[in-house]
Amino acid sequence: MNNNRILVTSALPYANGAIHFGHLAGAYLPADMFVRYQRLMKRDVLFICGSDEHGVSILISARKEGVEPQVIIDRYHNLNRTAFERIGMSFDNYSRTSLPVHHETAREWFVEFRDKGVLTQSVEKQLYDPEARMFLPDRFVIGTCPHCGYERAYGDQCENCSKYYDQTELLNPKSLLSDAVPEIREARHWHFPLGDYQQRLEEYIEKNAGRWKENVLQQVRSWLKSGLSDRPISRDMDWGIKVPGEEDEGKVIYVWFEAVLGYISSSKEWAARIGEPEKWKEYWCSEDTRYVPFIGKDNIVFHCLMFPAMLMEKGGYVLPDNVPANEFLNLEGKKFSKSMNWSIELNEFLDTYPADPLRYTLAMNMPETRDSDFFWKDFQARNNNELADILGNFVNRTVHFAHKNFGGKVPAAAELDEEDRLFLEQFSTIADQVGDCYERYRFRDAVTATMNLARAANKYFNDREPWKSIKTDAQKCANTVNCSLQAVYALSILIEPVLPFTAQKLRQLLSVSDPKALAWDAVKSWRLPDGHPIGERVILFDKIEDATIDDETAKLGKLTELPERHFPPLKEQITIDDFMKIDLRVGKILEAENVPKSNKLLKLKVDIGSEHRQLVAGIAAQYTPEDLIGKHIVIVANLKPAKLFGIESQGMILAASTEEDGPVVLTPAVLIPEGAIVK
Ligand code: MF3
Ligand code: ZN
Repeated sequence: MNNNRILVTSALPYANGAIHFGHLAGAYLPADMFVRYQRLMKRDVLFICGSDEHGVSILISARKEGVEPQVIIDRYHNLNRTAFERIGMSFDNYSRTSLPVHHETAREWFVEFRDKGVLTQSVEKQLYDPEARMFLPDRFVIGTCPHCGYERAYGDQCENCSKYYDQTELLNPKSLLSDAVPEIREARHWHFPLGDYQQRLEEYIEKNAGRWKENVLQQVRSWLKSGLSDRPISRDMDWGIKVPGEEDEGKVIYVWFEAVLGYISSSKEWAARIGEPEKWKEYWCSEDTRYVPFIGKDNIVFHCLMFPAMLMEKGGYVLPDNVPANEFLNLEGKKFSKSMNWSIELNEFLDTYPADPLRYTLAMNMPETRDSDFFWKDFQARNNNELADILGNFVNRTVHFAHKNFGGKVPAAAELDEEDRLFLEQFSTIADQVGDCYERYRFRDAVTATMNLARAANKYFNDREPWKSIKTDAQKCANTVNCSLQAVYALSILIEPVLPFTAQKLRQLLSVSDPKALAWDAVKSWRLPDGHPIGERVILFDKIEDATIDDETAKLGKLTELPERHFPPLKEQITIDDFMKIDLRVGKILEAENVPKSNKLLKLKVDIGSEHRQLVAGIAAQYTPEDLIGKHIVIVANLKPAKLFGIESQGMILAASTEEDGPVVLTPAVLIPEGAIVK
């Protein structure tokens, strides 16, 4: 493979919600950093994205608001496109899957596979909502995951354990349309024979395994180990890309089958826009391309198995060279949740703060190998102590000094000493180091190494004390300022992937317009000429006050208005005697620990006055053990013990929850002794 042609895609976000920091850190920011680096390496890069506008999740959003799906996709397509622009995503094209070019592409693939006899047809059991009178594909139904026991698993995939199964395997299924218990009915569907590609996919994965990330390989290998099976790729619904042909009236193509093709149609749209309609093929239909799809971990199976199998079947298309999927980013220790207001909307954030400090903070906390967090305090510290105090400070001192003492021009250097030379040499070493990190998809390391140049530059300026040498050794002082200005230039290139807006400001400040200077490797050789004019000082990073951060954290989780909810119908009436059979007691949590291998369960030891109880509660996604220890809660004390995950649970803890949001444990508002009766 020649390393010069690179195709990069970022997962197409569903156009039914605003993208948040978690998405950014997962599939977008790393892609943009990679692309910006590769462009500076003068490689031929195509960077593609767009909105994913079909699928059940769009319909559900439309239904919640009581509007047409078109209203939803138009709103969020535009919102997200703007947010991406403001955060500096440098896509060559941002498309949408509702465009004709995409519908045509998806149908072409589907029909070709069907006509070739690749797709098979079979009648299968499906969940059907007798009240809404329709089949319930994918997210229209929730239930308990057959693999991990998560209670809000969707019809096609569990968001907790990422397993992908047949919807009839779901335990206690429930229709999200009507709350009805679905019936099982038969329907005829088209299937893609994923199982037939098992061996080819194994070979493909193992061939690349040495370079792929552990978290990705682990998931893929476990899929392969359990054996791939055929996947249904049609659905009975009317939002989506219609399956061509009369006998398939009322069926659309499964969203995942067509969404991945959205990368190709977005590339076609780009090619048409630049007036070279065939040019997309140079990237997609060439063995010479290095194709890198950036995604979050929930998309691994589709990008590492399903899409490659489709590309193999089609023939003549490039397969992903690497799929550097990230894990998830949380917010202050909890999952992002829009309905709980535990979220930060990107557009809103960017109304107050500039993009670069956020890019920097997310890059430094990128969930590359495991889940990680965004903390407001950390954002403040990174902005104030790293960007402002190290990078901003160095640039300002240097520029200020050059203006004050050298008329705002690059002073001529002569007879550099050892220390100057060692400093200049670091530009090359660091450029190579950082580049190597980007090549290996190690974004945190890349940014840390980049900041090392700013650190080294600050130290150099301090150690050289130009404010002293100006009086004693004018040439030494000129050398220091010259080398420092060269470092400002080097930084303007090396920070470009992570801090593109600041990089631009630095190049403007230095009036760098020589096209030769705009390259990664120029950092090693290109220099600001003697006498070159420097612009006036600009503030690169404003400090963020403690009070601002306190305000932001206080806003989290505060519900300004309660979101609209769909509640299950009330249960049948009971008598007071029925109720009195239940013995509710106040208890105090003495111990809490995670249940191994379960993301959901916590094991608790609770003092209920008269005795200690062991409880197993499904609240691990919302609470850490530390959150709970010492808390007073209410338990059902006379519930017959039951085993959960092999552990005995002697009672049940009371918690409130809605369909959309997980449990909130109920606690007495004032201190009350363990054992107190609740009625
Ligand atoms: N819309 C999907 C999600 O947000 C990602 C689709 S990626 C694509 O999880 F490859 F299908 F486009
Ligand atoms: Zn699961």
